[in-house]
Amino acid sequence: MTKGYKMPEGFLWGGASAAHQMEGGWQEGGKGLSIADVMRAGAKDVPRIEDDKVLDGEVYPNHWGVQFYSHYKEDIKLFAEMGFKCFRLSIAWTRIFPNGDEAVPNEAGLAFYDDVFATCKQYGIEPIVTLAHFEMPLKLVKEYGGFRNRQVVDFFVKFAETCFRRYHNQVKYWMTFNEINNQTSWRDAHPMLQNSGVIFKEGENKEEVMFQAAHLEFVASAQAVQIAHAIDPTLQVGDMIAMSPIYPLTAKPKDVMMAERAMRYRYYFGDVQALGEYPQWLLNYWDQKGYQIDVTEADRAILKAGAVDYIGFSYYNSGAVEYKDDNPDMVYDEPNSQVPNPYVPRSDWGWQIDPVGLRYAMNWMQARWNKPMFIVENGFGAYDKLEDDGSIHDDYRIKYLSDHIAEMEKAVVIDGCNLIGYTPWSAIDIVSASTGEMKKRYGLIFVDANDEGQGSFERRRKDSFYWYQKVIKSNGAEL
Ligand code: BG6
Repeated sequence: MTKGYKMPEGFLWGGASAAHQMEGGWQEGGKGLSIADVMRAGAKDVPRIEDDKVLDGEVYPNHWGVQFYSHYKEDIKLFAEMGFKCFRLSIAWTRIFPNGDEAVPNEAGLAFYDDVFATCKQYGIEPIVTLAHFEMPLKLVKEYGGFRNRQVVDFFVKFAETCFRRYHNQVKYWMTFNEINNQTSWRDAHPMLQNSGVIFKEGENKEEVMFQAAHLEFVASAQAVQIAHAIDPTLQVGDMIAMSPIYPLTAKPKDVMMAERAMRYRYYFGDVQALGEYPQWLLNYWDQKGYQIDVTEADRAILKAGAVDYIGFSYYNSGAVEYKDDNPDMVYDEPNSQVPNPYVPRSDWGWQIDPVGLRYAMNWMQARWNKPMFIVENGFGAYDKLEDDGSIHDDYRIKYLSDHIAEMEKAVVIDGCNLIGYTPWSAIDIVSASTGEMKKRYGLIFVDANDEGQGSFERRRKDSFYWYQKVIKSNGAEL
């Protein structure tokens, strides 16, 4: 055990998850097809392929997840045993509006989350809810073009309003779009992780399409914020940013400038959602590129009035860039512009491990956006071994989490960052989003299932379960 700092009274310790990676039950209770339901399994360096319907003979891991749909009472009880004060989950859009464009919501889907939230309440666990976590109804992707289309703004807002009205007494903390800035990787667009439901067409300017789609998501998110406040002024609605600070590889001024270009490009999403307006550099950039982004006066007013209440963010790693002579304009091209950082180690999946980057990022965000923050994902994807006696010795995960929590605590206690809570990814093993693998495990609780969805789905406490229990009990003092 290492010594940490105690967090402020009422700090929300918990764990995180997402519906498509956890629930399974893809056809239960009237659920419709989401984009995640047509994503095949991939692997490290093998991208997931998306089909336009479910094909016989293909493997779709999100169809079973870890069967939270049928195990949620048992799972929430285990979270309570760990001492969770909160539990981050997402509402599967397709349980509430199976195709996304229905006039009335699906009562069976709404009732499912009624009971999930009631079960949380029974144990004094506060649900933290993401509305769209890579789970757009497939019909909105295929027939409406996702957030290319303003109609999808209305569909999202209706979904959000339905959830706020139904659950505002059970759920105080909400987030609109998970990792909305994943779209900066538009060159390698992955339709599910892109989150906007946009599938690029041959020959179109992908960057321009990305800016337009992101704009409509901002409008949808800002409208949702305003509606939430009108329904219940105590509701807190955050954005959700994939935070991976980009360092200059060296102190060469051009490397430093290149890193600044990367940061403003990756995090303009946060500028718009937290400050309610576009940064001037981006408006200039659109002009220089000749992009015609449809941003109306009405949109601008909505963005301003719908700034988020807090910054939800994930943190897994940091990145680095260097200036190259063949890129005199310092265009940030993600992920191609990134270079390995020789000062940090990597996980088995090549993710750079950098706990100090979390403290750095928190200070950067506090200074830039000056809002309360919530770490809603931070974790270590690794191979776990189930021992003959049923134990799982995941000391590598304990080390990763402990090192990150130590830096988080310094950011709060020493630096004065305003942090609401911490929910490591993931509360329980889930299907990996980028690879569709089960063996890339993140959970504090082990689920007996393999990449093909075979296994007993029995839950087992990992060593990290008992370790985290002590962290929470000591309010962060025992790491
Ligand atoms: C975040 C997502 O990108 O990272 C999660 O919000 C995801 O859904 C997590 O699971 C870890 O990534 P991966 O691809 O290893 O599952």
